[in-house]
Amino acid sequence: MSETRVNVLIVGSGGREHALAAAVARSPRAGRILVAPGNAGTCEVGENIPVEPTDFDGLVKLARDRQIDLTIVGPEAPLCAGIVDRFQKEGLRIFGPTRAAARIEGDKAYAKALMRAADVPTADARVFTRFEDARTYVLTRSEGLVVKASGLAAGKGVVVCDTPAQTVLTLEKFMIERAFGDAADTVIVEERLQGEELSVLALISGRAICLLETAQDHKRLGDGDTGANTGGMGAFSPAPCATPNVLRAVERDVLLPIVDALARESHPYQGVLYAGLMLTPAGPKVLEFNCRFGDPEAQVILPRIRSDFLDLIEAVVDGRLEEADLQWDDGAAVCVVLASRGYPGPVEDGKVIDGLEAARRVPGVQVYHAGTRPLEHRILSKGGRVLAVTGLSETHEEARRRAYEAVGCLRFDGMQFRTDIGNRAL
Ligand code: AMP
Ligand code: GLY
Repeated sequence: MSETRVNVLIVGSGGREHALAAAVARSPRAGRILVAPGNAGTCEVGENIPVEPTDFDGLVKLARDRQIDLTIVGPEAPLCAGIVDRFQKEGLRIFGPTRAAARIEGDKAYAKALMRAADVPTADARVFTRFEDARTYVLTRSEGLVVKASGLAAGKGVVVCDTPAQTVLTLEKFMIERAFGDAADTVIVEERLQGEELSVLALISGRAICLLETAQDHKRLGDGDTGANTGGMGAFSPAPCATPNVLRAVERDVLLPIVDALARESHPYQGVLYAGLMLTPAGPKVLEFNCRFGDPEAQVILPRIRSDFLDLIEAVVDGRLEEADLQWDDGAAVCVVLASRGYPGPVEDGKVIDGLEAARRVPGVQVYHAGTRPLEHRILSKGGRVLAVTGLSETHEEARRRAYEAVGCLRFDGMQFRTDIGNRAL
């Protein structure tokens, strides 16, 4: 049977987008794959087009000119700015939530209100728009609290504080010094939860929910979960703490009620919904929702999908997720992120990356590019997270060994990485 090919546009330029492009490319139905703007890895899977993710006019024109049948959006910024609404208005098929539904990530105060209304377990929180009010509240408490910018802050707008004094200093940075600009005009101050963290991602199409395999992220910069919060320094999948009981509770107490609440507000969700959870003694509680695949969670989850990924994405977009057939590799994946010196702060670009060929030859390894660009016959770093090296195998131990063997082949000036990714799964 000859089937028509599907031309796909992937929006974004990180490791997640490289993993998305690679997953689409495995489908026998994949036609041309364009990535906007992409990186030095995605141009080996498809064609990079220099259009920025928030240039909606440029992306619509690209989708039209190149007969794109399906657009998949990686990062949160275009989703929260309404790329899906725009594409739908133009009659173009696109995977991801509308602007109103993406508020679940882009507006944390809204997400908290939604969780409260839907009775979804989450950390107790107060919302403030005035520094004085926030400070007065913090000084009535004896313990450290968590401060979050309500708006988008590139994964850096959360500080877990040890003491009330540190909480007040953080509020000053957010609300007086305005370190995140408008994103912290509204601030959430919430109780500090204890427990193991777990990421549960699910494909959602209206009220249909399809859980993906679980993952655990390593958010802190340093070994042993020390140092600054980052976008993620590594991940592994599956997460052993995600027992069948935990997953049942997450689906019943978190995903179903949230998806229902969004549908009731006339913002039915379509796309992937990412629940960042803390497994507390009182059960799973939501730390945050993201309206997209996680990065680096995508780099351990997507390579484990055995079914046709393009079929799955189309089932979500076309509202027939119930029919989708989702098969997984039984094994494990471990991903180690290689970052530039200075990350998560400012970094220097343009460092030559050596050893990519050798790393790729390690059996069971996928080297996803995160922040890279090609220049003549070389590949240069560009940005904080440079590469995401995923090892795949039957066991976590071997997946981890493979990932670190490949990491051992790679070098660039200022390269930093954690040496304990995946240890928690052993
Ligand atoms: P978020 O972007 O909201 O996931 O926050 C980033 C990281 O901060 C999370 O992955 C947790 O490690 C930590 N965090 C966020 N909220 C809390 C909380 N209420 N209690 C403890 N840690 C938290
Ligand atoms: N790795 C966490 C995130 O993508 O938000």
